[in-house]
Amino acid sequence: MSSKQTVLIIGSGAREHAIAWMLKKSPEVGTVYMAPGHGGLGEIAVPVSLSTPAHIIAFAEKTGALVVIGPEQPLADGLGDALCARGLKVVGPSAAAARVESSKAEAKALMTRLQIPTARFEVVESLAQALEKLDAFPDGVVVKADGLAQGKGVVVAERWDAARVVEAMMTGHRFGTAGDRVVLEERLTGVEMSYMVLTDGVRQVALPTSRDYKRLLDGDRGPNTGGMGAIAPHPDATPALLDQIADTIVAPLLWALAEEGRPFRGILYAGLMLTDRGPYVLEWNARLGDPEAGVVLPLLGDDLFPYFEGLASGELPNAPLGAQGSAVGVVMATPGYPYESQKGIPVTLPPNPEAIIFQAGTEVRDGALRNTGGRTLLVVGQGGSMTAAREQAYRAVSRIAFPGAQIRGDIGY
Ligand code: AMP
Ligand code: GLY
Repeated sequence: MSSKQTVLIIGSGAREHAIAWMLKKSPEVGTVYMAPGHGGLGEIAVPVSLSTPAHIIAFAEKTGALVVIGPEQPLADGLGDALCARGLKVVGPSAAAARVESSKAEAKALMTRLQIPTARFEVVESLAQALEKLDAFPDGVVVKADGLAQGKGVVVAERWDAARVVEAMMTGHRFGTAGDRVVLEERLTGVEMSYMVLTDGVRQVALPTSRDYKRLLDGDRGPNTGGMGAIAPHPDATPALLDQIADTIVAPLLWALAEEGRPFRGILYAGLMLTDRGPYVLEWNARLGDPEAGVVLPLLGDDLFPYFEGLASGELPNAPLGAQGSAVGVVMATPGYPYESQKGIPVTLPPNPEAIIFQAGTEVRDGALRNTGGRTLLVVGQGGSMTAAREQAYRAVSRIAFPGAQIRGDIGY
């Protein structure tokens, strides 16, 4: 019997594929399972069907697996708590700590109290109240569903269109109950940055910074999506800026959560806008970003596994994570995304791609790899410079056959 650690990753996206790819490189990691996983994991991980928390707990107890929770929904539903209560090893915060992501209204209130820079806002509970408050945002308003909406619950609206957007969310139930309560926010301008740290609740170990391309179309036009590509490191990341973010944005939040008896142990993600008044928080996430994970993890020179083990045990290694080079990730999304994703389209990958291809929502059916919807592939190029990384990524994209795929052509420019 080997003494290697079995790992179970919850999720099926490119983010989870990237986590599996990274952990599999560790000499300490044995079999990696992924629930539900997808059809394109190859030698990296074994997909398993575990449809309820009880099944996940039973599987973890039987295999002794370290459980890594990828997406936000199971965190919000308390999967982390359920595993911890059984004494199992888990990477992912408690549901109480994950509220920083699962309620935008609560996160805004907390930031206001802690004087963490964030856009001016109003929380509204009814359409009438919303319409009344819109006048407070003459320069355009950002309308956000309070609850989880798969990264699609935020609409940056012009003042003239805002009433229609609010109505669709609040009475049209475009995002289900996530839109019963809505945050109206001042629109900020600047460059966005994704800042992620591993944390045991006190100590922070930063991952490389990144930039997500949220809009569907080139030049940041079209609707918001879960992310159409990403680059790392962020071109505007300076050591001084990173220190400022760690000390004045992340540390106060961690301190407050610990003080409230819900220490954040896991991966904390600050979605920032770098404005001319300094970094402002747009959102908090309780997990790795997707597609950001796909460009950030490949840059790490160190073994990630001891850090994940530290997150599970509460003893995070003290040393910073080393990283080098640049990465550019290009999403290939199915026709119709983000509205009505077409499914079942055959996807043919080149035999020896130089780039890394992380898959999401794929299955092998009738002898062919087919998409099961949404953002299907994340093609990641790496190099000593952003230009080299970008060229490698787009070269690989051009060799993939995926009829009708939606691809941004400006990632990393
Ligand atoms: P969120 O899920 O809150 O990060 O919002 C998704 C995206 O909407 C962000 O990545 C930004 O592109 C945009 N966004 C959110 N809040 C604002 C804001 N206050 N001003 C301008 N853009 C925003
Ligand atoms: N790419 C943004 C997110 O993961 O929320």
